[in-house]
Amino acid sequence: MGEFCGAGQLCPGDFMNKETYTTLKDRIKDFEEREQQRGVRMFYLAVAPRFIEAIADALCNQKLCNRDALDRIVVEKPFGTDLESARKLNHYINKRFKAKQIYHIDHYLGKEMVQNIMAFRFANYVFEPLWNNKYIDHIQISVAEEVSVGSRGGYYDSSGALRDMIQNHLLQLLCIVAMDCPKAYEAEAIRDAKVKVLKNVRPFTPQGVFKDVVRAQYTAGEIHGKPQVGYKEEGQVAADSSTETFVAARMFIDTERWKGVPFYLRTGKCMPRQSSVIMIQFKESPHKIFKDDLMPNQLIISIQPELEIGLMFEGKVPGLHMKLESVEMDFMYKDNFKESLPEAYEALLLDVLEGDATQFMRDDQIEAAWKVVMPMLNAWKKSPKKGLLTYEAGTWGPKAANALLKPFAKDWFRLSHENGVEQKLSEPEKKAQLVAAT
Ligand code: BG6
Repeated sequence: MGEFCGAGQLCPGDFMNKETYTTLKDRIKDFEEREQQRGVRMFYLAVAPRFIEAIADALCNQKLCNRDALDRIVVEKPFGTDLESARKLNHYINKRFKAKQIYHIDHYLGKEMVQNIMAFRFANYVFEPLWNNKYIDHIQISVAEEVSVGSRGGYYDSSGALRDMIQNHLLQLLCIVAMDCPKAYEAEAIRDAKVKVLKNVRPFTPQGVFKDVVRAQYTAGEIHGKPQVGYKEEGQVAADSSTETFVAARMFIDTERWKGVPFYLRTGKCMPRQSSVIMIQFKESPHKIFKDDLMPNQLIISIQPELEIGLMFEGKVPGLHMKLESVEMDFMYKDNFKESLPEAYEALLLDVLEGDATQFMRDDQIEAAWKVVMPMLNAWKKSPKKGLLTYEAGTWGPKAANALLKPFAKDWFRLSHENGVEQKLSEPEKKAQLVAAT
C-alpha cells in the first residue's frame, strides 16, 4: 500500500478548464516515457452528472482515452437524474467510447457478501430449486443507515433516498436475488440476466405509488445518545424541502418464477444502526402435525456490518416433550475465512484495470433501473407533499412502512445489536415479527 501511494502524483486542476487536460497529458507522457510502456489508463469520474459530458469530450479531444484495449472510463453514480438524462448521457458517452471501455460503477457490487450471493445461489444445489414462488413467501431487502445526510445536504436535497440508494444499490441487490442463473459467469450473460429482472418489475401506476411506496423525512432525535438535527435543519437543505430520506416500497416481478411474491425494499438515513440485510422468507410448512406455533424458515443474508448467512429452522427443544423452537444455522465470514476483506472500491477498480466488467452495470441496465423509479419521481414531483411522512431520527422509520408488509409480516426483519455485540431477538420477539398482520 505504501509503495502504491508513494508512486502516486497529484495533478490538480479544474476539470472544466482545457489546460487541465494538456497538463495531464504531459504528465502521463513523461510517466510512460520513464516506464517505457504505454500503460492502462483508467479515468474515474466521481462528479455530478452535469460535468460528465465536458470531461468525456476533453478526454476524447486530447486523445487521452482513445485506445479500446487499454483505456477505460469509470463513471460513478448518480448516472443521470432521471431516465431521460441517463439516456442522453449514455448516448453521449457511447458516441465517444467503445462499450468495453465504459464501466458504470456501483460500489455495492464490490461488497464481498453481495458477490457471494451468486456463489450461494448458483454453486449450491440445495437452495436454487426452492428459489421461486412455490416455496418463497416474500423477500425483504433493507439497507438501513445510521448516518445522517451530514455535510452532503447540497447534493442530497436534489437527490433523495430514491435516487441515492434505491435506483442503484437496492435495485442491484434485487437483481442478484431475483435473477435466473446466467449462462456463464461472464459479464454479458450476468448483465442479461439482471436486465431481465428490471424489465419485469411491475410498473407502478400513478395511484399505486402512494399505495405501494412509503417515503419520509427524519426529524430531530437521538442516535446512540447523541442528538441529531432534523433533515430540514441540515446544512444546504431547503427549509421547506420535501426530499425523502427514507423509502420503503413493495414491488412485484412479473415472471413465472416470482408471480405473487412481494419484494419489499427499504432504505433510510438516521436509523438506529447500520444494517444491510436480505431476508428470504419461505412459506409455512404444509405439515400441520405439531401443536406449537411454527415459524416459517428464513434465510438471512447479512451484507454489513456483519457478513453472515443464517438459516432459521424449527428444532426440538431438549426435554421430555415435543416442544419446538426456532434455531439458526449460521455461516460467518470471520469464523470461516482468515483472509482480510477488500474494500468494495479496491476490488472494483482492480477489475477495471484488469478489464473485467462482470460487476459493472451496462447502459441498458441503468436505463431499466431508472424506468422502475420514474413513476415515483413523477408522482412526487406532481404532488411534493402528498404522503410525505416523518420519522424521528434514531427510529426504524414511519409505521406506514410496516403496514406495507401486510399480510406477509408485521414488521421488517431485524437482528438486534447493542454496542456492536450481537444479541439475537428472543423467541417471542421473532415470532411476533412474523405473525401475519391480517
Ligand atoms: C452512497 C450514497 O452511494 O452509498 C450514500 O450516496 C450512502 O448516501 C452510501 O450513505 C452507502 O454506502 P455503504 O457502503 O456505506 O452502505
